Amino acid sequence: MAKAVPDTMRALVISGPGGIESLVESTLPTPVPGPGEVLISVHTVAANHQDHFVLRGLGNIAGVALPHVLGNDPAGVIAAVGPGVPGSRLGERVVVKPAIACDECEPCRAGSDDACERLRSVGVHRHGGFAEYLTVPGQNAFPIPDRLEFAAATALAQSFPVALTLLRKAGLHAEDIVLVAGAAGAIGAAAVQLSRLAGATVVAAAGSPGRVEYAVGLGAQLGIDYRADPSFADTVRQSFPQGVSLYVEPAGNPTIWAEGLRSVGRQGRVAVCGSHAGPIVQLDLLWLFRMRVSIFGSAGATRAIFAEILELAGEDRIEATIDSVRPLWEARDAFERLVARQNRGKLVLELGR
Ligand SMILES: NC(=O)c1ccc[n+]([C@@H]2O[C@H](COP(=O)([O-])OP(=O)(O)OC[C@H]3O[C@@H](n4cnc5c(N)ncnc54)[C@H](OP(=O)(O)O)[C@@H]3O)[C@@H](O)[C@H]2O)c1
Ligand SMILES: [Zn+2]
Repeated sequence: MAKAVPDTMRALVISGPGGIESLVESTLPTPVPGPGEVLISVHTVAANHQDHFVLRGLGNIAGVALPHVLGNDPAGVIAAVGPGVPGSRLGERVVVKPAIACDECEPCRAGSDDACERLRSVGVHRHGGFAEYLTVPGQNAFPIPDRLEFAAATALAQSFPVALTLLRKAGLHAEDIVLVAGAAGAIGAAAVQLSRLAGATVVAAAGSPGRVEYAVGLGAQLGIDYRADPSFADTVRQSFPQGVSLYVEPAGNPTIWAEGLRSVGRQGRVAVCGSHAGPIVQLDLLWLFRMRVSIFGSAGATRAIFAEILELAGEDRIEATIDSVRPLWEARDAFERLVARQNRGKLVLELGR
């Protein structure tokens, strides 16, 4: 039998401006699922750069109403359903797809719901999973395969679907030589695994010997430590004289970007999905067109790709990369680790249920 839902819940909220220090414990009314929505009893959620952007009040996600609840990728159990959602979903183990599409705009109708013109993000435009409960549209709550723990489902949700969408847009194929920068980070580690799964050759680049070893352990054929080897394009070309055919950049670090581009061969592709280390980088247009290089940008993922990732994980063909699991109430430590570039894979937070 489903547990009774209390009227109030514990949450970690942004109390005011001020970055990581402004995260405080609070008691909020438990949300009530509206039409088409489900209420999830949260077990795990992760600390992401997007949360950190909101904490710092940056970019187009500035100005959320306070107190605000962060948390893009919670996993848990459906504890109540709103009108229009079948009662049979009660008790279902689910993980949240972070972006909510409108299903009405042109990209949505064409099946590109990742490019929805009215996209809303969980933990940004509405309260997220840094709380005992949250509500999301039922179609954003995906069933978790039996063999996956909540922590693994959370660790997959915000990085693997993004990485797969990006790699597909850039036309990943088995003959590719893929250079992945930030390869020990969450999206980088996902890109290494997904490129290998497609049969490609992978060069994993990261910022310390331990981080390189970790990324190579995910299946890469060559590791690059770009702190120890700042002119690493020369090293890449010692192994692959023709250069790499695809360069995946998840951080936008200007120094790494310059060497990443120097590693790209003729008719190569560059795929970008993050900019927390930049976002302004240099680009020589003469080089771009003479080399016939294409640049792809991508954000989010379609619901179809999100489901595909869960299926691949359920079949043990990809593995969630988890840096650590700590109580939600210690999220500040997780963000400090994220900002210090210490995490290998995902920083998971748990509610201890
Ligand atoms: N497009 C989308 O839909 C989408 C979705 C989710 C996240 N993102 C973005 O994708 C990016 C990566 O996310 P993630 O979860 O993989 O983050 P992450 O786990 O922190 O990994 C990013 C990696 O970038 C590397 N890096 C290089 N230069 C850096 C610098 N100056 N500062 C910080 N890190 C630097 C770090 O590795 P080394 O220290 O080894 O260099 C770090 O591990 C973020 O910008 C995030 O906002 C985009
Ligand atoms: Zn739409």
